[in-house]
Amino acid sequence: MNTDFREKKIFIAGSSGGIGYKTAELFLKGGAFVMLHGKNSSKLLKKKKNLQTHFPKQVSGVTADITTTRGRKKLLAEYKKKHGNSLKVLVISVGSGKVVKTAFIKEREWIKVFEQNFFGIVNLIFDFMPLLKKSKDPSIVIVGSIAGIEHIGAPVSYASAKAALHSYAKHLSVEVAKDGVRVNIVHPGNVYFDGGRWEELLKGNTKKVRQYIKEKVPMRRFGKPKDIAEAILFLASQKAEFITGASLVVDGGQHNSF
Ligand SMILES: NC(=O)c1ccc[n+]([C@@H]2O[C@H](COP(=O)([O-])OP(=O)(O)OC[C@H]3O[C@@H](n4cnc5c(N)ncnc54)[C@H](OP(=O)(O)O)[C@@H]3O)[C@@H](O)[C@H]2O)c1
Repeated sequence: MNTDFREKKIFIAGSSGGIGYKTAELFLKGGAFVMLHGKNSSKLLKKKKNLQTHFPKQVSGVTADITTTRGRKKLLAEYKKKHGNSLKVLVISVGSGKVVKTAFIKEREWIKVFEQNFFGIVNLIFDFMPLLKKSKDPSIVIVGSIAGIEHIGAPVSYASAKAALHSYAKHLSVEVAKDGVRVNIVHPGNVYFDGGRWEELLKGNTKKVRQYIKEKVPMRRFGKPKDIAEAILFLASQKAEFITGASLVVDGGQHNSF
């Protein structure tokens, strides 16, 4: 059991789905108090109940759309009500690549993708920074994507937003290092879980997707949410106390630039 996080306060934005949810489970196993978050309330409630069966006193949850000021205001208020004015670890696992592939989309569509995959996140971090600064050895771990650092055939708007997030994480880490806040980003490859995007794509064209994984991923398999969650926990832990501004790729070797 990872006891690094005993009684530590963790907020995971975007934890009603695959990667964020598994990350929550691992933090809970490590003894942390975890606030779950998502946009859809019935989905979040279901996930919260699952975890409460095993960790009844450690789990709470909040729903809010992080792309709106109102949503983020609600989120911050609910967090403070539950956990007060300090936060040890902020994980951001919000995002979605479920958009059309082409670069030729209307301005409104670009904005929508950036609101969900970039601006909502940047604003959320702005809101929670004062709470992080009040904690001992605080850190932020952002979930990016290898789509943001290399061409892998992902939708252009999504890849561009993830690239912006990559740069933002690097620059933010330098700016807040003096305050003791570490900032790191994890870049997953193709992560499969029931109900996730890859299940959908696999159902749409099983042969093509399986071929893609075999050809493009040297380890010839999908990633699991646990693969990414373990990397997040490491970066948030004391073991990574001298690591900030890092981007950790977890993709079975798919991304292979120098
Ligand atoms: N799965 C992959 O292959 C893969 C690969 C590379 C990177 N990633 C990244 O990993 C992160 C997690 O993705 P996942 O695969 O675990 O997908 P997921 O299950 O869909 O998780 C996304 C989470 O973000 C929440 N969310 C989305 N938009 C939101 C909004 N506007 N306001 C509040 N919450 C919002 C979702 O809640 P609702 O469902 O209620 O909207 C959900 O909890 C994302 O940043 C994704 O881009 C995933």
